[in-house]
Amino acid sequence: MKKVLIFGGLGNASVIANAMIDANMRGYTAYEFDGYINDRDDCDEIEGYKVRGGLKDVKKFIKEGYYFINTIYKIDGQKERIELFDSLLIPEERLATFVHPTAYVAPNVELAPGCVIMPNVSVSPGTKFGKCCRVMVGATIGHNNIIGSHTFIAAGSCVGAYLKIGEGVHISLNATIREFLTIGNYSTLAMGSVLLKDVGEFEVWAGNPAKFLRKAL
Ligand SMILES: CC(C)(COP(=O)(O)OP(=O)(O)OC[C@H]1O[C@@H](n2cnc3c(N)ncnc32)[C@H](O)[C@@H]1OP(=O)(O)O)[C@@H](O)C(=O)NCCC(=O)NCCS
Repeated sequence: MKKVLIFGGLGNASVIANAMIDANMRGYTAYEFDGYINDRDDCDEIEGYKVRGGLKDVKKFIKEGYYFINTIYKIDGQKERIELFDSLLIPEERLATFVHPTAYVAPNVELAPGCVIMPNVSVSPGTKFGKCCRVMVGATIGHNNIIGSHTFIAAGSCVGAYLKIGEGVHISLNATIREFLTIGNYSTLAMGSVLLKDVGEFEVWAGNPAKFLRKAL
């Protein structure tokens, strides 16, 4: 199996790592989790799994044949985090695309390299994801959406159809999005919100119906 290093620690990285371990136990053989890349937590191990190194070691890991998943993002600071990841120059063919075996992904859905589809997710036909998107447990994604790179769709969210969602967008826990809308780059929809209108770039919207809350940094 191809060995995967996940950028991050406790949180999105560890839940994705555990989903991959669970997938292996169910017979999934494309990738196996091999450890974390983490500069921050000052430890050798996270929940019994190795921290293999930090960002400075990525070049070496590429040479050693590893594959990668990125989970280091931030609602205020999304653009900088994405630029930092891009500066590592990881070849696209080394970004692991992981679909947990309990997810339903319609046959014509397009997943660019580095995308993660977690357990019990449903993705309807004709939807296209840019690279490094993460769709977390139990989210439901409608049909014919265009979703930009590095976008995050949190657990339990319900995303409609014919949407244009930009790069580095954060759809928070249990948010719901009406069909035919546009969400600009680096914007956030807050937890439990119901979105009925278009959202610009670098904007945070919240509530039911969702309203503009503030600019994202
Ligand atoms: C959108 C979000 C980033 C706003 O955070 P923030 O800027 O720190 O905002 P605050 O908590 O200071 O709240 C500011 C105002 O917005 C309101 N607000 C915040 N989140 C809200 C929500 N989800 N729905 C409705 N109103 C909300 C607050 O009540 C507050 O209103 P007030 O000024 O009238 O008291 C945050 O609520 C959120 O949704 N984070 C994402 C969580 C998530 O997805 N977690 C999963 C990751 S795995």
